[in-house]
Amino acid sequence: MVTFTLRKARDADLPEIIRLWKRNIKTANTSEDIAEFFHSSNYFFFVAASRTAEGGEQLIGFVGGSIRGSHGHISGIAVDREYQRSGVGNALIRLLERELRAQSFDLVTLEVRKSNRSAIHFYEMLDYRPSYLIRAYYADGEDAYVFAKKI
Ligand SMILES: CC(C)(COP(=O)(O)OP(=O)(O)OC[C@H]1O[C@@H](n2cnc3c(N)ncnc32)[C@H](O)[C@@H]1OP(=O)(O)O)[C@@H](O)C(=O)NCCC(=O)NCCS
Repeated sequence: MVTFTLRKARDADLPEIIRLWKRNIKTANTSEDIAEFFHSSNYFFFVAASRTAEGGEQLIGFVGGSIRGSHGHISGIAVDREYQRSGVGNALIRLLERELRAQSFDLVTLEVRKSNRSAIHFYEMLDYRPSYLIRAYYADGEDAYVFAKKI
């Protein structure tokens, strides 16, 4: 079992968020791209942290939300491999949804690689449903499903 706490991300978390993003998400996003997402919508970035043996904090996951037009959007979510399947991703998404709802948004969307079966299963378990396909959405030519959920 993993014990973790959730909190809003701070500027000092950015290097760890970049590490988590690049290590766990198949992406062409550079550190600069991720920093830009973070600075433009930092209000909707949350992190999961566990305690180290020395009593310090270790970031094990994050979710990055944003606003697209009139709805919320999940720009990125990752949990470090060693901590996956322990409820961390679920807790991060639910926190982001709560924050979006508190700000009167009632729809959340996201894109996911067509081949990312584990993430698709994860989103389906959280009641996200496929809405449409965007051909060659990713830089390497892979298609994306757009998923959506009414919150
Ligand atoms: C997708 C991801 C964020 C899920 O985080 P997580 O903390 O492992 O997810 P949870 O433990 O909260 O899982 C909740 C439920 O989702 C489903 N799920 C999660 N990971 C799954 C997997 N690898 N295969 C199948 N179902 C999965 C399960 O139903 C799970 O419940 P269960 O463990 O009780 O069966 C994590 O696997 C990850 O970081 N993946 C790599 C990055 C990525 O693909 N991000 C999405 C890009 S769009």
